[in-house]
Amino acid sequence: MATLVCVCVLLFTTATIQAATSPHIVFIVADDLGWNDVGWHNPQMLTPNLDKLAKTGVILNSSYVAPVCTPSRSSFMTGMYAYHTGLQHLVIMPESPAYLSTNFTTLPQRLKEQGYSTHMIGKWHLGFCNWKYTPTYRGFDSFLGYYNGAEDYYSKKMRGGILADGLDFRDNKQPLHTEEYSANVYARRAVDIIKSHNQSKPLFLYLPFQSVHTPIEVPKRFENMYPNIEDKQRRQYCGMVSALDEAVGNITQALEDTGLMDSLLLVFTADNGGPTYTAANNLPLRGSKTTLWEGGTKGAAFVYSKTLLRKSGYENNQMIHASDWFPTFVRLAGGQADSRIDGVDQWKTLSQGEPTQRTEFVYNIDEIFKNGAIRVGDMKLIEGSPGIFNGWYPLPRVTKEDADFDPELLSMTDATSDTYIYKLMKNHCDGVRRTKYRLFNITADPTEHFDLAEKYPDIVSQLKTKLDIYKKSLHPAFDPSWTFKANPLFYDGVWSPGWC
Ligand SMILES: *[C@@H]1O[C@H](CO)[C@@H](O)[C@H](O)[C@H]1NC(C)=O
Ligand SMILES: *[C@@H]1O[C@H](CO)[C@@H](O)[C@H](O)[C@H]1NC(C)=O
Ligand SMILES: *[C@@H]1O[C@H](CO)[C@@H](O)[C@H](O)[C@H]1NC(C)=O
Ligand SMILES: *[C@@H]1O[C@H](CO)[C@@H](O)[C@H](O)[C@H]1NC(C)=O
Ligand SMILES: *[C@@H]1O[C@H](CO)[C@@H](O)[C@H](O)[C@H]1NC(C)=O
Repeated sequence: MATLVCVCVLLFTTATIQAATSPHIVFIVADDLGWNDVGWHNPQMLTPNLDKLAKTGVILNSSYVAPVCTPSRSSFMTGMYAYHTGLQHLVIMPESPAYLSTNFTTLPQRLKEQGYSTHMIGKWHLGFCNWKYTPTYRGFDSFLGYYNGAEDYYSKKMRGGILADGLDFRDNKQPLHTEEYSANVYARRAVDIIKSHNQSKPLFLYLPFQSVHTPIEVPKRFENMYPNIEDKQRRQYCGMVSALDEAVGNITQALEDTGLMDSLLLVFTADNGGPTYTAANNLPLRGSKTTLWEGGTKGAAFVYSKTLLRKSGYENNQMIHASDWFPTFVRLAGGQADSRIDGVDQWKTLSQGEPTQRTEFVYNIDEIFKNGAIRVGDMKLIEGSPGIFNGWYPLPRVTKEDADFDPELLSMTDATSDTYIYKLMKNHCDGVRRTKYRLFNITADPTEHFDLAEKYPDIVSQLKTKLDIYKKSLHPAFDPSWTFKANPLFYDGVWSPGWC
């Protein structure tokens, strides 16, 4: 009898300790934010709230994401490389019945197993043709936001590639009509969730903001923060970044006020590099969103915690990949991620500055574009075409003169720019052979000025062998034909599930 009591007490104590050690996790994703579009890389940017978190936390200097949005988000949600989820080819377009396969247990599902409340605010972009692929069926207790890749910041309307306009905005499953700027809507919802959160449970808040994707739209007071920037698009784009910064400031204030900040990890990352063909900037890095260059794949990122980081206030150069957040969060929550996933637990690297748990990673493999890239130690191998934006684009943005593509694009300020770019890429990549290889020493040449392929044929051949091994496990790209069945006209003018 005495032994039994003792065991019970022991179990109770262990459970209490476990609950106390599962910190709250706030995972903020900025959309289409350039490397050079944050205050800690570019003093022209006015991002005081983010700067403070970054500078007192750990700035990540080698944190990699995919060249575009859907593949990165699939890695965040599954801990897998996109080429293992079938979402490696561009993004899910509005009328495409593609989705993140339910074969994968998502990050919020795993965190719920550890007792977390899970909430998502913002952009999903992992498929919605059936309810079972939408956030509240994939592990989130609540959802406020949109299913597609881009929309108007005020009306929340999205124009498809082949069809009509429709509203894309929901509170859980219900369509929501609001004309308020999305950064404000999202910040307010986050503050509400934080303030009403029952602290007997750990909180997971996934905050993939709409900011700062096209269309270029921002309330005047943010645009006015940059009177010295002549270029209108760049001035408004910088304003959008500052609006995002204010939203983050409001959210962190609520985390402080409620005491949640005392046991919390905050991660901030871009989903891909900035699109230099609209108004973003990645200097000194080469290339743009949509490319395999560092400018397309190195995300502006940091981690912050008031209590959990044993080393902070510095720039961490260790190699981290988008798939690593999944096992890192699950482990921090007291669980254990499946060892077969691609991501690795980077907690010791993030919290103590220990060497990275990975020596290589896959930038992407896209069998339709016949391109791909890997990094092994210092070296990066690019197979096939890196993309259609291959320069070092100056501030404020590319001009008509240095654009190596249709200048028509510069006048496109809405979501159709994505559709247009993807069409250009398809045309371009169809004509490029995969047998072209480029080799860079990223440690010595992070801006990719010196192609070493001819100088080091042996290294090219070693890395090519490795890439070929990676390719063997590729899951074919899920790229179904677009369908008119997706038309919001069939759903009271709202982009809705029900057509797959
Ligand atoms: C999901 O699992 C099924 C059955 O094993 C398999 O046929 C399919 O290829 C898987 N899909 C993905 C994206 O892994
Ligand atoms: C931040 O909070 C202030 C005060 O409530 C509010 O006026 C402002 O609009 C909020 N900003 C954002 C981006 O949510
Ligand atoms: C918080 O949750 C616990 C456990 O479910 C419950 O006992 C408690 O009443 C809740 N507190 C509030 C303020 O709702
Ligand atoms: C790559 O650059 C690093 C740093 O300069 C250097 O130590 C290494 O030897 C270089 N590797 C090759 C293959 O040139
Ligand atoms: C961050 O990386 C860049 C190359 O991308 C490098 O030049 C710089 O020295 C790194 N910062 C630190 C603090 O090591």
